[in-house]
Amino acid sequence: MRLAGKKIVLGLTGGVACYKIAELTRALGKVGATVQVVMTDAATHFITPVTMQALSGNTVYTDQWDARIHNNMPHIDLTRDADAIVIAPCSTDFIYKLAHGACNDLLSTLCVARPAHLPLLVAPAMNVEMWQNPATQRNVAQIRADGIQVLGPAAGDQACGETGMGRMLEPDQLLTEIIASFQAKSLSGKHVLLTAGPTFEPIDPVRGITNLSSGKMGYAIARAAWEAGAIVTLVSGPTALDTPYDVRRIQVQTAQQMHDAVMAQLQLHKQDVFVAVAAVADWRVANASEQKLKKTSDTDTPQLQFAQNPDILAAVAAMPDAPYCVGFAAESENLLQYGAAKRLKKNVPLLVGNIGHHTFGRDENELVLFDASGHTALPRADKQTLALQLVAEISLRLALPH
Ligand code: CTP
Repeated sequence: MRLAGKKIVLGLTGGVACYKIAELTRALGKVGATVQVVMTDAATHFITPVTMQALSGNTVYTDQWDARIHNNMPHIDLTRDADAIVIAPCSTDFIYKLAHGACNDLLSTLCVARPAHLPLLVAPAMNVEMWQNPATQRNVAQIRADGIQVLGPAAGDQACGETGMGRMLEPDQLLTEIIASFQAKSLSGKHVLLTAGPTFEPIDPVRGITNLSSGKMGYAIARAAWEAGAIVTLVSGPTALDTPYDVRRIQVQTAQQMHDAVMAQLQLHKQDVFVAVAAVADWRVANASEQKLKKTSDTDTPQLQFAQNPDILAAVAAMPDAPYCVGFAAESENLLQYGAAKRLKKNVPLLVGNIGHHTFGRDENELVLFDASGHTALPRADKQTLALQLVAEISLRLALPH
């Protein structure tokens, strides 16, 4: 319930993308938000107030002369207990109105009359030519300069049949942006590189050795770092997970590929933080076969030989000018003892311990953080909650001299 107790004033303006806001309204409710819908007259041509009232569970307002508000001032009263205003879809015309402080309908008046501290987020949705029009771009620059947060737009196929910039973000992306807008930007502008998931070491073209890591913890940390304002790159082994929104994912299979991808990223751009969450195979099959191994008799078994993989975390930590390194330890016993020892062995300022077989593939985990001053427990919670806590802990330590 990431938005529990939050009230969102959700403004709809005219655009085909209105149909996607039905889904966003539901999604906001599911994460605990109260949704107060306000629609322009144009928006009511695309989706009805009846639908929006049914989905939000609250009276929908469309008219500045609506007498249902006791003092007849919906443009004031609707935002006074709100935590954010989100305009989605936000039309070309509505961006123009915001840029010029127009007050000629309820929604525009409500935006101008909002308390100065109340965040206003807009999700543009329009034809590519309308988006690229210099007048629109001038107005977008103006509303950004005024502190209005512009979400997207994305590029792609458009309702009019043309293709290009101007598509509204998808409902799940809008939800992610809205949730992130409530997060402290403790890693603002920082570059964060992570590894996540298992590795896969081939035995032959169709078989290999892997482990039970699902990647969920690493992906949750990638998302939490992005929510904290970081520019995030995720080097991931094979997982079934979607790439977190606005995170750059580099897909690899083997430990050697993961090592090479991490080193390439460090060459490409200086990273402030490196978080090694991946369950990296310690060994690869040295005599992997180019062809599928065949069962030749009932008694013969293949003789696999192993070679050690590079230790990615240790290699990064040993670099001159290394990023702030965070390691993970997946143990099966003696976590306090092994965790503290592993932090020293890997030579990292922060190591996160967990019991591997209690967490691999699950949605929940519990963590123990080891640093130079001892250890701290983060009690059992879902991985996204733990990831937010861990990112806050990393941010605190990053701000200290190290
Ligand atoms: N790690 C890595 N490269 C490797 C092995 C591990 O980057 N080749 C990283 C993991 O991502 C994790 C940390 O090192 O952050 C600890 O990994 P783990 O496998 O638990 O520790 P090992 O050093 O392999 O020790 P052991 O297997 O003996 O417990």
